Amino acid sequence: MMEEQQKVPYVVSGKSKVAVAINAASKTGEWIKSKLGDYKQLNTKVSSQDLVTEVDKGAEQMIRKLILTYCPDDEFLGEESVGAGAAASAKAIDAVKDSEYVWIVDPIDGTTNFVHGFPYFCVSIALAHKGEVIIGVIYDPSHDELFVAEKGKGAYVHGNLMKVSQEATLGESLVATGFPADRGESLRLNMSGLNAIVPKVRSIRNGGSAALHLAYVAAGRLSAYWEIGLNAWDLAAGSLLVTESGGQIGDISGDDYHLAVRNVLATNGHIHQELMTELHDAGLQHIPAQK
Ligand code: IPD
Ligand code: CA
Ligand code: CA
Repeated sequence: MMEEQQKVPYVVSGKSKVAVAINAASKTGEWIKSKLGDYKQLNTKVSSQDLVTEVDKGAEQMIRKLILTYCPDDEFLGEESVGAGAAASAKAIDAVKDSEYVWIVDPIDGTTNFVHGFPYFCVSIALAHKGEVIIGVIYDPSHDELFVAEKGKGAYVHGNLMKVSQEATLGESLVATGFPADRGESLRLNMSGLNAIVPKVRSIRNGGSAALHLAYVAAGRLSAYWEIGLNAWDLAAGSLLVTESGGQIGDISGDDYHLAVRNVLATNGHIHQELMTELHDAGLQHIPAQK
């Protein structure tokens, strides 16, 4: 009699983790693009401006499967699997900050844009090793742009090495920000920063995707970006793109970047201090912990 076959999960081996991330981001990004204008359920999270659709959830499931097929022992932290709000997010990060390998994923960064058919959103995938981001992949399916960074190996868009921009003063800088989903204290502070910065810079943008703003700082298309009240999945992949392109990223208070940073300042390095000082003068030095 034939021996009963053992039920062992089939594990594909031999694919580098960066290739795994690129595969998941590009496949899922194309699927999201095919759903543009075609979502069925629109729900809200922390505020009426914080949107989620079934496409966000489906995209996260797709990424989880694509990654864990190749890396079954790694941990996975996706936005749509964490409860809404700062406290749930902090708890989720705390649980994985010492993990050997954890994938940190925002399946659609820029859901509001996705919902409105505004072609500026992305898939953001980071891999952290014991709390340090070592891979960052961001894919913008509307423009077919793939941003890839590996710790110590540089950052690339479409295979071309990226470098941050050279602006040395705020006056010649193009700076981005975002409007926090938490419409309370975070929004008030951000508006105060906006009032202070707008008259000092060449211009301001809010594209509506934190991860793409960071990728654009890395690519030298934006001189800087700040925002209050973000989460690890918004920032992790982009943080590595920025540093590997020669830029600087940290907490607005001045602390270095780490996975629990929520109030971000990323620049080409040259204007970091000047922009940070202006934001501090506008009241963004000590930002109260968000709920
Ligand atoms: C949002 C985007 C937006 C930023 C919000 C984020 P989501 O992420 O990055 O640009 O201003 O604070 O929540 O909800 O589209 O994944
Ligand atoms: Ca996001
Ligand atoms: Ca998202």
